[in-house]
Formats: sequence, C-alpha cells, structure tokens
Amino acid sequence: MTTVYTVKQLELILDAARQKHQAIGLVPTMGALHAGHASLVSRSVKENDITVVSVFVNPTQFNDKTDLANYPRTLEADCQLLESLGADIVFAPTVEEVYPEPDTRSFSFPPIDTVMEGERRPGHFNGVCQIVSKLFYMVKPLRAYFGEKDFQQIAVVRAMVKSLGINVEICPCPIVREESGLALSSRNTLLTEDEKNTAVNISRTLKESVDFSQNHSVNETHDMVVNQLNAIDGLEVEYFQIVDGITLQPVATWKDTNYVVGCITVYCGSRPVRLIDNMKYRG
Ligand code: PAF
Repeated sequence: MTTVYTVKQLELILDAARQKHQAIGLVPTMGALHAGHASLVSRSVKENDITVVSVFVNPTQFNDKTDLANYPRTLEADCQLLESLGADIVFAPTVEEVYPEPDTRSFSFPPIDTVMEGERRPGHFNGVCQIVSKLFYMVKPLRAYFGEKDFQQIAVVRAMVKSLGINVEICPCPIVREESGLALSSRNTLLTEDEKNTAVNISRTLKESVDFSQNHSVNETHDMVVNQLNAIDGLEVEYFQIVDGITLQPVATWKDTNYVVGCITVYCGSRPVRLIDNMKYRG
C-alpha cells in the first residue's frame, strides 16, 4: 500500500494503472475509519484491480466550525486498517493541495438537496459535491463506493455525476451496525458509554416502526418514532421524514411509491452529538 499526499503523485501512479487497463475503485472518506468504511473498502478491493481510499476532512462541507475542529483525525490507525484490508493507495492530501484556490463552484440539485440535511446544513451538500467531483477528476475511478447511512448524500452525488457527465458507477453499500443496532459512525467516538446505550434506541425504534408500519399510516408511524425517541432522556429528534427513496420527497401514504425510506437525525447526549440513521419501509 502506498500513501500519497499530492495530486501529482496520485496521477503518476494511476496513469500507469490505466495504461494497463486496470479497474480503479475509489472509496472517499474523511478518515476515523470504522467497520462501515471497511465494508466499502473490502467491496472495492473485490471488484477492482486498484483501490484508492481518500482520507480528507473536507472543510467546505462543514457549516459548523466547532464540528470541523472536533472531527476525529486518526490517519496512522486508518492506514493500518486500510493496509490490512488490501487497499492499494491512500490519498491523504492537505487542504492547500485540494483547494489551492477557494472553490467557487456552486452545486444545486433541487428538490433532492433542499430537504432534510440540505435544509438543516446550508452549504453542506455544495461542499460534498465540490470535494467528490474533485476526487472523481483526480482519480477517474470506474466505481465509487458510498455508505447508505448518508442516504441523501448518495442521491446528491448521483445527481451531480449525471449533471457533470462524469462516467463513474456509484455503488451504495448497506449500513453496518454494532451488535446493539447502533449505526456505525465516526461520530460515535464522541459518545460516552452511557450516551451510546441511549443512542441504541434510535435503531431499535426505527426497527420497531417497520412492524408498526404494517398496520398504521405514514403519519402514525412518523409520530410513533418521534414521540418514542423524544420521551427518552438524552435524545432529541431533529427531523424524521418518511420519503420516496429516489426523489427524497415526503410520502403521504405507503402506496405513493414502492421504495420508501425513513431518514432520521437525532441529537444525543450533553455535547450533543448529531447522529443520523435510516430504515427502509418498502422496496
Ligand atoms: O461521507 C463522507 O465521509 C464525506 O461526505 C465524503 C463523501 C468523504 C466527502 O467528504
């Protein structure tokens, strides 16, 4: 495994790979890697000749400076994990390397990026599109792997790829959960043990709500989830929306579409830590 820090080094290695017609897989990450990332990397290693993992905490997608400052950075441990998974290249550039000049491009894909995370984190998806498009231009991957925990992010990246005409296959990978059901997230390291035990209720309630949804309306299912979670000390739902899995627009009935997903964001603990999760109801 080679760790490279500059675009020049990266391009040199990848140009040689492309000349040999090797398939390149990209796993974009912000580091602080866990088993969720590992599942993306393992899949890429299986499906491609070369796997590039980018480790870059992208400042342009943070709308909160404290969140950016607190974001865990663990490059050494990340590299050890990536080596054990069979990744070929780790791309760990500095902010100056990625943004030698401020990125003034602006991306907007309404209504996909104006709901849920887009509504609550102004500029977030613009920053995601800036970095992911740059990575696509630098790496020119055949396939790119994204975790379904960030469900809306995948829809936005798909819209961006279509709009820019970038030829890359977007490969969504299922959420990896702890045995308790808690969705793996780099932010989980910010939770105390007690808070983690409280956070388990998020996935537990979502799971219960799938059964509940069999004989209750969309509204009733929505309210059941929000009320049950808000009744727990240390949890506060920011939003819960039951949406069409493609358009991300809210559904009114289970029959509106055949792919229905519930997307949730919950504040947990005293810091508090913002956790996201989602659950498929239909499709
Ligand atoms: O999902 C993430 O970790 C980030 O949004 C991504 C895709 C690596 C872009 O910085």
